[in-house]
Amino acid sequence: MILETLREILVDLEQRGKLIRVSKTVDINWEVGCLVKWMFQAVEERDRQALWFENVAGHDIPVVIGALGASTDVYARILGVEPDGINAIWERALLNPIGPLRVESGVCQETILLDSDVGLDRLPIPTWTPGKDIGPYITTPVITSNAHTGRQNVGIYRTRVRDAISVVANLNPGRQGYLNTCTWTDQGLHAPIAWIIGAHPVVQYAATANLPWGSDEIEIAGGVLKRPVELVKARSIELLVPANAEIVIEGEIYPGETDVEGPFGEFAGYMGPVAQKPVVHITAITHRKNPIYCALASQMPPSESTIVQSLTNAGVIQKMLRYDFGEHTVKDVYVDQTFGGLLAHAIIAMTPRYPGHAKKIGRMVADCTPLKRITVVDTDIDIRDSTHVEWAMNSRFDPSRDTEIIEDVFFPMGMDPSIPVTEGKRGLGSKIVIDATETIGTGSFSLPSKDKMAAALMSWRDAGLPEFSIPKRARLRIERS
Ligand SMILES: Cc1cc2nc3c(=O)[nH]c(=O)nc-3n(C[C@H](O)[C@H](O)[C@H](O)COP(=O)(O)O)c2cc1C
Repeated sequence: MILETLREILVDLEQRGKLIRVSKTVDINWEVGCLVKWMFQAVEERDRQALWFENVAGHDIPVVIGALGASTDVYARILGVEPDGINAIWERALLNPIGPLRVESGVCQETILLDSDVGLDRLPIPTWTPGKDIGPYITTPVITSNAHTGRQNVGIYRTRVRDAISVVANLNPGRQGYLNTCTWTDQGLHAPIAWIIGAHPVVQYAATANLPWGSDEIEIAGGVLKRPVELVKARSIELLVPANAEIVIEGEIYPGETDVEGPFGEFAGYMGPVAQKPVVHITAITHRKNPIYCALASQMPPSESTIVQSLTNAGVIQKMLRYDFGEHTVKDVYVDQTFGGLLAHAIIAMTPRYPGHAKKIGRMVADCTPLKRITVVDTDIDIRDSTHVEWAMNSRFDPSRDTEIIEDVFFPMGMDPSIPVTEGKRGLGSKIVIDATETIGTGSFSLPSKDKMAAALMSWRDAGLPEFSIPKRARLRIERS
């Protein structure tokens, strides 16, 4: 079951030891970002917790970070499933989207700040890599709309706080947020744009889903929640925003106006380049009474942004393979959590139906996504268990026979540090597809039969040996023995 609101989710995470309150007074300009870095860089994933900073110096709004993706367990808990049930949730939602419900009022507008009351300095916006990032950054979902169709889009585009009344949004050409704002500015119109802080986590996960042009992530979020997301009209611009968000920042982009964006620490783990990006003039800030500033931690992986993007987009790719391409023998998809979710390594479990089938699937994923490495294994491999995947690679993969290199690939986000930049121009990169399925018969496993292992399990218990939970890897192997 998925809880109804972010606030209920925070309580649930705290009760389960997945969220910890920090009562010490902390400085938003350096300390919060650094404490979050310790949580992600030093604490093992199974022990990682979201951080609820109750006292932020100079602010009366608390800050929560990590509540959406401190770990796979946190993400799965919010969706009410075990980690290997996450893809099915996205698959079902993508096949059964539910449109939003327009409502007349929402808690996100309990307080409305307009005109001279607008001030981003009222909000505790973290500087994530102090001393290196140009300043504080907003890292929460952004809503834009298409001037011609009226369709809205939700994506996350990090946003530099320029001063109390304006920001610079990292709207990248090719991204739907950028394309939407151009449908206004190309006509000489102001483009409406809004940042949503503390919307239901499912809305925020959906914002990171790489979907076809024109898709509305709010409908997919509705599909996950199995109920419409309630939207209310923004106060100063023509956009609909989630009624239950904690805080909404509304603004407008004026045609042609840009300013410096960056440096900012990238998901790849390095400081990103500086570029000119659209300036946004803030037109209103609305919020709940006593709001919470809930942000996503990005930058050096492992990070919350990478975990969330990997888990969400694995489901999107699984749905694409199984339903858009009709490849129903694909059973599972995993995207590794070390590199922003989509330039990373995908592992696909499938049953090949004909020679070359696994490589074909790998090539399709390589061509349709920014993923750089795609490994295909049989369905008797637990793709979330790196030991098991390594075993498949060692036992079923012959490099010269089972590798395919895809040359001359342009990585649109230009974020792969392994690709050289010459005279300001980024070179082309490559991708690799690895077929680690059993392409030749390898015979029987060197394990006793399933019956004998089951009998031995009874004997283990009779002997009073220590209890253990059977890993999926062992279950899959014994099943085949
Ligand atoms: C915390 C966070 C920050 C992100 N920042 C950016 C960004 O600055 N620019 C970008 O293009 N994508 C960024 N992404 C990834 C996009 O949000 C994601 O790919 C999304 O699907 C893009 O939406 P669109 O395809 O509808 O444009 C970020 C993701 C997260 C979780």
